[in-house]
Parts: sequence; C-alpha cells; structure tokens
Amino acid sequence: MYIVPRLDLMIAYSCNLSCVGCISLSDLPRSGIAPTNDIFSWIDNWSKIINPKILSVFGGEPCIHPDLIKICKEIQSKWPLSTIRLITNGYLLDNFDVNDWYTINNLEIQVSVHRKDHEKIINQKIKNILACEKKWKVSLHGGKNEHKQISWTNNKLTIYKSIFKDFVVPYKDNIVPWNSRPEDAHKICGSPSTPILYKGKLYKCPPVANIIDITNKTFCNYNGVEYTDDVNQFINRIGKPEPVCGFCPDHTQAVIIDHSNIKNVKTKQKIFN
Ligand SMILES: C[S@@+](CC[C@H](N)C(=O)[O-])C[C@H]1O[C@@H](n2cnc3c(N)ncnc32)[C@H](O)[C@@H]1O
Ligand code: SF4
Repeated sequence: MYIVPRLDLMIAYSCNLSCVGCISLSDLPRSGIAPTNDIFSWIDNWSKIINPKILSVFGGEPCIHPDLIKICKEIQSKWPLSTIRLITNGYLLDNFDVNDWYTINNLEIQVSVHRKDHEKIINQKIKNILACEKKWKVSLHGGKNEHKQISWTNNKLTIYKSIFKDFVVPYKDNIVPWNSRPEDAHKICGSPSTPILYKGKLYKCPPVANIIDITNKTFCNYNGVEYTDDVNQFINRIGKPEPVCGFCPDHTQAVIIDHSNIKNVKTKQKIFN
C-alpha cells in the first residue's frame, strides 16, 4: 500500500462557473459527470493500492453530481482514515440536505470564492451549514502572497472559505504545449504534488489529465496509470518535475489571470440571492 499526502478524485467535468485558466479546463464548454458506478469501481480498485491522507472530491463542480453524498460515504468506507475534502465553488451546496454533511466522518468542505460580488451569497450557504451546530473554532490563514482562508471547525466538520487572486493558464492558446523546461514549469505549478484519479486512471495533476482527455492527444508519450499497471514509478515521481510538465508555462511564458476581476469569472447559471 502506498501512502500519499493527497489525491484528487474527478467526479464532474462540467461547472456552473467559467473561470479563465481553470486547472480542470472547466471554463471550456464541457459537460457531464462521472457515472456513480464507475466512481465506485475506481475507488474500490485504487483503495487496495494507494492510501491518501487527504482525498479531495474534485471537478468541475462536484456539487453538480446528484450522488455526491453517496460518493463521499463510499470514499469513507474504502478509505476510513483519509480526510475527505470537498472542493466546491459553494453555489450548489444547498442542493443537499444540510444534515447530510454531518453524517460523513472526516469531512472538510473547502469553498472557493470566485466572485467578490457573490461573496454574500456564498457566505449564506456556509452559514446554513454552520447553523446546525453551536461551537465553532474560527481561524484565519494565509500570508501576504498566499491565498486567504478562513476556517470554522468543530469535532464533526471543518469548513474553509478560500479567496484566490492569480490563476496561471496551464496551456498555450488552443491547448498546445509551451514546451518549457519541465523543472521551470514545475517551480510555478499550482498543483505540483497532487495526483488525480480521472476516469479510472492516475495522472500527475489535474491539467495533464484534463488536457489529454479533451485533446485526445498525449505529450511526451505521457499517459495515465491503470490500477493493474506497476504504479511504483508513478508514486516515486509525485512532487517531482518530469517531461510532461513542459506542457505548462515557465514564469517567463505564464499567462496570469487576475481572478479578482469579475470579467474573468462568468456564471453559466442564474444566481439567486
Ligand atoms: C478546479 S477547482 C474544482 C472545484 C470547484 N469548482 C472550485 O472551484 O472550488 C479546484 C480548485 O482549483 C483552483 N484553481 C483552478 N484553476 C486554477 C489555476 N489556474 N491556478 C490556481 N488555482 C486554480 C480553484 O480556485 C479551486 O480552489
Ligand atoms: S468554479 Fe472555476 S475553478 Fe472551479 S471548476 Fe469551475 S471554472 Fe474551474
């Protein structure tokens, strides 16, 4: 069994927002969710091989998935010691019964605030969940150059609210590679040591998995690892640059998107107060 610090699990390809430069390429016209039975079989297969300390339920927007709670419970049963971190933009949290969040052990909800002008709406969604319990410890995190976070925690649940500033677009125009020096791209990578379980295979990071899937092309002969493959080499490369990292830009090439400018974050759904 390989113990890894983090693993992302992609359960939805589409998103209700479109953030320019998204590492899951969900700003492009993508649709659909992963079928629940497929997700269960990926979890079953990989839980015999790899044990993440933190398993992030990832998308697109994971709250689009109607079986999200069932999926979290399946993760909990197959990886009972892992922290489950739901990463969401928060708009759809009330698609689910508020009490359900308290029935999942070791759950953290990380709410990314993408639009300053919608922060009040997102705050209300968080408040609805907090209202079920009384005693919360509130903490502030994040230095000058890091993204800012506030967290609420008690013995049943932790909620983080995160505010981002800059996004680096993980590809060149029309989704072609930058052909940068892998070590240089890796230095500015936003996800340098978090592999992703995507359509049943493990990939080095979210952009690599999504780009290979969308373009149907590979780069430097990179491909995802099946659970029947020898995963040892894959595990040894976590957190290290490798040729496929040359798809992303180095710091001289990087296109940096100011995420606090609302023109870079469009809503694909009507937002209600
Ligand atoms: C891809 S999103 C998926 C989950 C959910 N839709 C959300 O936005 O939280 C996961 C996280 O990646 C962050 N992210 C997306 N694109 C990024 C980029 N280019 N650079 C840095 N962080 C990025 C988002 O802010 C979010 O916290
Ligand atoms: S909310 Fe933004 S960052 Fe999250 S998946 Fe959607 S487009 Fe990407």
